[in-house]
Amino acid sequence: MEIRVAPLPAEQKKQKATDETALGFGRLFTDRMLVAEWKVGQGWVDARIEPYAPFSLDPACAVFHYAQEIFEGLKAYKWSDGSIALFRPEMNARRFNHSAERLCMPEVPEDLFVGGIEQLVALERDWIPASEGTSLYIRPTMIAVEPVLGVKPSDHYYFYVILSPVGAYYAAGFNPVKIMVEDTYVRAVPGGTGEAKTGGNYASSLKAGLEAKKKGFDQVLWLDGVHRRYIEEVGAMNMLFAYGKTIVTSPLTGTILNGITRDSVLKLAASRGYTIEERLIDVNDLMADIRAGKVTEAFGSGTAAVVSPVGILAYKDESVTVGDGGVGPITRELYDALTGIQTGRIPDTFGWIRKI
Ligand code: PLP
Ligand code: COI
Repeated sequence: MEIRVAPLPAEQKKQKATDETALGFGRLFTDRMLVAEWKVGQGWVDARIEPYAPFSLDPACAVFHYAQEIFEGLKAYKWSDGSIALFRPEMNARRFNHSAERLCMPEVPEDLFVGGIEQLVALERDWIPASEGTSLYIRPTMIAVEPVLGVKPSDHYYFYVILSPVGAYYAAGFNPVKIMVEDTYVRAVPGGTGEAKTGGNYASSLKAGLEAKKKGFDQVLWLDGVHRRYIEEVGAMNMLFAYGKTIVTSPLTGTILNGITRDSVLKLAASRGYTIEERLIDVNDLMADIRAGKVTEAFGSGTAAVVSPVGILAYKDESVTVGDGGVGPITRELYDALTGIQTGRIPDTFGWIRKI
C-alpha cells in the first residue's frame, strides 16, 4: 500500500534525549507518526506519515465510550554497525489482526502494518538510541472513530503508529522485581478478551496494580478467573519458572496474551538444552515449590519488560524469596541470548531479525 510522506517543518523537530540512560519508558515520542484510515465501503485509505501531533476527535467517538481499541508493542534496535533491526514484526502483525477480529475491527494488511513500520522507523532512524538496554519502542494502535453512541462496531477507524525511544520498563532495570499474586480481582475469564491486546484489559487492571504498589510490589500476577488457582500472567509480561533445567510456563488457554517474547524465550531455552513444560501451575504448589527450593528462578518475559527476574513472590499473607532473591544464571543466560540476537551481538539462527 502506498504511504504518502508529508514534509516535516524544521520548527517541528523535537529535541532528542541527551542522556540515553535516563530515557525511562514511553514518555518521549519522535517527530513523525504513521496514520491510515479504514472506512466502511472503502477499506484502508489515505495512509500517510505525518508530523506527530494530537488528533482532533469528536467526543462521541466509539473508542471513548465503548473502548473499541487494540494495540501492539515491538522494538527497533540500532546495531553497532549502524544498521537497524526489527524483532519478529510479522508476529505482531498477526496478533494485531487476531485482536482486531475479537474486537470486530478490520484487519490491517501486513504490508501496511510491517511495511508502514519499516518506512516510519527508517525516517526516524536518528531517534533510535544505541546505549545498552535501550531501543525504539513501536506502538501500533487502532481506534474506533465513528461518532455514534449506539453500541455497535464502528464504521470508521484510525490505524496509527507512534515511536518512543526507551530504556528499561521497570525502574529497577535488570534487577529482581517484587510480584504479588492477585486474589481479589481477576483480569480475564474464558470467552472474554484476555487473549486480545485491547486497552480495556489494562484499564481494568489498574486498581489491582495500584493496591499492589501501595503494598510495595511492582506488579500483580493474575490467577485464572474461574478457579482463582492457576497462574496466568503479569500485567505486562508472561511468567516462567525454572525448576533446575526445566522451564515451566502457563499454557495459552485463551485468557492470557500469546507473548512473542515468551515464544522466543521458550525456543531459545529449548535450543540450549532446557526442557519446556507448558502446563497449568497451581499457585499453592508453586509457593510450596519456591519454599522448598525446587523453583530455582522465576522471570517474566515481554517486549517492554524483556526478561525480568522476579526476586519475591507473595500470595495471601506469605512472601517467598525465589532462589537467593538475585538474578539467577538461567534468567541471565536467556536475557543475554535474546538481547544478543536483537542487538546483533549473537547471530540469529531463528530467522527473527528483519533488517530495515
Ligand atoms: N502479557 C501482557 C498482558 C502484556 O501486556 C505483554 C506485553 O506485550 C505480554 C504478556 C508479553 O507479550 P510480548 O512478549 O509479545 O511483548
Ligand atoms: C509491551 O511489552 O509491548 C506491552 O505492551 C506492555 C505494555 C503494557 C507496556
